[in-house]
Amino acid sequence: MAVLEAATASWLRQLAERDSDAVLDRMHALAAERDFPIVGPEVGRLLAQLARLSSAQRIFEMGSGFGYSTLWFARALGEDGRIYHTDGDPENQRLARRFLGEAGVAQRVEFLCGDARELIAQTPGAFDIVFCDIDKAQYPSAYDLFADRVRVGGLVIIDNLIWSGRVAAGDDSAESRGIRDYVDKMWNDSRYLSSLMPVRDGVGVSLRVA
Ligand SMILES: C[S@@+](CC[C@H](N)C(=O)[O-])C[C@H]1O[C@@H](n2cnc3c(N)ncnc32)[C@H](O)[C@@H]1O
Repeated sequence: MAVLEAATASWLRQLAERDSDAVLDRMHALAAERDFPIVGPEVGRLLAQLARLSSAQRIFEMGSGFGYSTLWFARALGEDGRIYHTDGDPENQRLARRFLGEAGVAQRVEFLCGDARELIAQTPGAFDIVFCDIDKAQYPSAYDLFADRVRVGGLVIIDNLIWSGRVAAGDDSAESRGIRDYVDKMWNDSRYLSSLMPVRDGVGVSLRVA
């Protein structure tokens, strides 16, 4: 189910791709070839904006794939920043090391392989941003682990809350239920001010206020 009509979706995509570059182009091509779900340039730009707006220096990413969303964040962080790339698939991590190396930002990235929920629990300290893009059925259990790990003034950003319209349409899959349960938890959490941006497939942005 398309959330936006085709011409508008295409225009927004063209706007977001305006200043693409060789590394991003190769990542777009690999995602298309493998039908791999990267966040895409519309969300990538939003991630970079939010990182800059919040002056983020330490970002924990859950479900980083071959490093596409990581690249947008890493560029926004600047040289002294740190981003944790996590994925359960070592092949994704191998590709991410290559792409992020080619982009000249690998020294800002710590690569951790395994279940991102376990990895965040094992990584001490507070984060300026937690970005979550793991399996959607796992969103509620991820919330339990990251909600207290963001500093006041920091952000939780989470992708695919619209899930191609299935969440609002009452779909009963494990993924749609996971997204619905996550939204219930996060929107009821008085430590956070949350909103859902209808960018691409829906990006949840929660600002920690207490
Ligand atoms: C939607 S893709 C991530 C795309 C990435 N954020 C991007 O835009 O380039 C989801 C990724 O999360 C990984 N994944 C799913 N559940 C995970 C978990 N519990 N822990 C670690 N990685 C997970 C998958 O292997 C997959 O690469």
